[in-house]
This record gives sequence, structure tokens and C-alpha cells, in this order.
Amino acid sequence: DKREYLMVERRGANDCVAVITLNRPKALNALCDPLMEELARTLDEVESDDKVAAIVITGSEKAFAAGADIKQMQDLKFTKCYSGNFLSGWDRVSRCKRPVIAAVNGYALGGGCELAMMADIIIAGENAKFGQPEINLGTIPGAGGTQRLPRAIGKSRAMQLCLTGDLIDAKQACDWGLVSSVHPPEKLLDEAVSIGEKIATKSKLIVQMCKEAINKSYDASLTEGLHLEKRLFHSTFATNDRKEGMDAFVEKRKPNFTDS
Ligand code: HXC
Repeated sequence: DKREYLMVERRGANDCVAVITLNRPKALNALCDPLMEELARTLDEVESDDKVAAIVITGSEKAFAAGADIKQMQDLKFTKCYSGNFLSGWDRVSRCKRPVIAAVNGYALGGGCELAMMADIIIAGENAKFGQPEINLGTIPGAGGTQRLPRAIGKSRAMQLCLTGDLIDAKQACDWGLVSSVHPPEKLLDEAVSIGEKIATKSKLIVQMCKEAINKSYDASLTEGLHLEKRLFHSTFATNDRKEGMDAFVEKRKPNFTDS
């Protein structure tokens, strides 16, 4: 494996889950450009593998990711940021067609928290800490934090986190709806893989439609979102898997999905 900043393995029944582990321990997985480029390339790779039904992104027990790389940004000037559209490549993660599960142990700060929020599902270890401490560095969240965090936890809480730079623990994050469940750190990855395995028993095609519809709820008006949902719902009736799923229910057997 020629990767420098992350590791990839297949887990779960029939290797259906791709697990990507951020691996830059010396910098608590600070998300430097080469790491994010590697992540984007790796997502291209695992998404073109038909066996892969879900993707897990995780870090170490100490840190999911402690943010964008402060040392890399230290001497950066506006002109270069703007003309090079600094960090624009990060949205690759939010454009995955397969469901992405972030399994967060330890610190998920700044860009690390934003990376987790680009995933479709976040689960956390009991030791997880989330926050947007950019304000302490004289900057603001730049990879979705000001938009995804209020949608996840509400305006008042998002304001408080972003304006004070305070961190919240896993329990708080769960109570506030940022993460869906909390687990002992050593069990977290298995839990993420088992969610992925469960998704893998469904039709990939229908899963993709469902994910597209839910994601629309984040960037459209209710009317527009409901319209897309209805059209995608109608579209499931153009697939073999919709017919198979309902046939199987009526015939009291398990469906045999063919992703078609
Ligand atoms: C570069 C980082 C880093 C980061 C940690 N390190 N976070 N390097 N960028 N974001 C490096 C440290 O410099 C140190 O390197 C090593 O990792 C270990 O970190 P320590 O600070 O010694 O560890 P600890 O005392 O345990 O403290 C952990 C910590 C702290 C609380 C997470 O590292 C911290 O506050 N990090 C910065 C968090 C942050 O502000 N994140 C937001 C970044 S801005 P050396 O070489 O000294 O051993 C951002 C902008 C996003 O994300 C905008 C769009 C993406």
C-alpha cells in the first residue's frame, strides 16, 4: 500500500465495508493537503469497487482528526487562499455515493469535526470530543462547520460552540443529536462495520436514492426536498429491486437484491 497518511481495509461479510483509517499520529491526524488528496483518491477507488456497500472513516483512539493543519496554514495569505480556492477539494467526502459512517474516538476538532459531519452517520467512542475551536486561532470554520453544525444541533448551541471554541464530549454530542450513538472506544469500529454490513444487505441502488433524498433536506426548501423525495420514490418503481423487495415480503421470504 503506497498510502502515507491513511490505511484501507475491507471488513464485514463479503468484504462489503471499506474502512479508511486516518493515520498521521504525530500530528493527531491533522488534515494536511496531501492527506485530504489521499482520502479523495481512496474514496474514488473504494467507490469503484462493486463489493463495497458502505465506507467507514475512523482515526486513532486519541484523535479522529485535530483539525486542518495549523502549521500548513500558519503563513498562508488571503491571495493564495482565494485564488487557489483553499480546501475546496474537501467536499469529495460529502459527494460519496455510498453511505459514509464516521467512527469518532478522541478529538474531532475544527476540520476534523467538519469531516465527521460530511459523513452520513456519526457514531462516537465514550472518549470523543467535538468542537470548532477555530475562533481561538483567529479564524472560522471553513469546511462546512457554520452550516452543518447548526443543522445538526441548532443555532444556539452551534453559535456557542463556534464563538467560545468550547469542546463537548460524546454524551453531550449524542444528547444534542450530532452523533447517533456512543460506544466503548474499543468496540466503536466493530459497531460501525456492523451498521455498514446491515446497509450492505439492502439494494445499493435504493440506498443511493434514499441517501440522495435525505441529503436534499439539508440544502433545499421543504417544498423542493419533498418534490425530489417524491420523484426518487417514484423512481424506485423503475427498479427490479423494488419489485423483488415487495414480492419477497408478500411471499414471506428474504429479498434477493441485484442492485438493478
Ligand atoms: C497541526 C497539530 C494540530 C493541527 C495537533 N497538532 N493539532 N498540528 N495542525 N490542527 C500537533 C501538535 O502541534 C503536536 O505536534 C502534536 O500534534 C501533538 O499535539 P499536542 O498539542 O502536543 O497534544 P495534546 O497536548 O494532547 O493536545 C491535543 C489537542 C491540541 C487539544 C487536540 O493538539 C490542539 O488543540 N490542537 C489544535 C486543535 C485545533 O485548533 N483545531 C482546529 C484547527 S483549524 P508537535 O510537533 O509539537 O509534537 C481548522 C480550520 C478548519 O481546522 C477550516 C477548514 C477545514
